[in-house]
Amino acid sequence: MKDTIDAILKKHIPKEKENLIPVLQSVQKKEGYISPESVNRISDYFRISRSSIYGIATFYSQFRFNPPGRHSIKICLGTACHVQGGDFILKALQAEIGISPGETTDDMRFDLDRVACLGCCALAPVVMVDNKIHSRMSVIKLKELLNKYE
Ligand code: FES
Repeated sequence: MKDTIDAILKKHIPKEKENLIPVLQSVQKKEGYISPESVNRISDYFRISRSSIYGIATFYSQFRFNPPGRHSIKICLGTACHVQGGDFILKALQAEIGISPGETTDDMRFDLDRVACLGCCALAPVVMVDNKIHSRMSVIKLKELLNKYE
């Protein structure tokens, strides 16, 4: 992992703070997430505190700090999905797999994120698993859906 980070950092000279987001994007693309080790290395390189890096990165929903699971679940909590019970689906989902948005299950089966809109509001509430949209989600459909993914 250190070699990967170093190779990415070499491409972003000078150590201008404007390069921080592109570096974080490159690390996430290569590693699938931004590990604590990566944050430490980036912090040393740019001479920015670790808390500042987390502060900046958490502003952008594209960054994740846990390794991705085998299957990625995105629950939509945009207006249409919220009105159609998206929060209720999220609670059922959290109870079923035991994690909150931004986390990965211990067995690496699922990671979970919330999104603002998946662009198919007429199908609300919507859940996406591995880039496949599942529309008009219900608690019963959710359990059946999760059972399809090992
Ligand atoms: S608000 Fe959920 S798909 Fe648009």
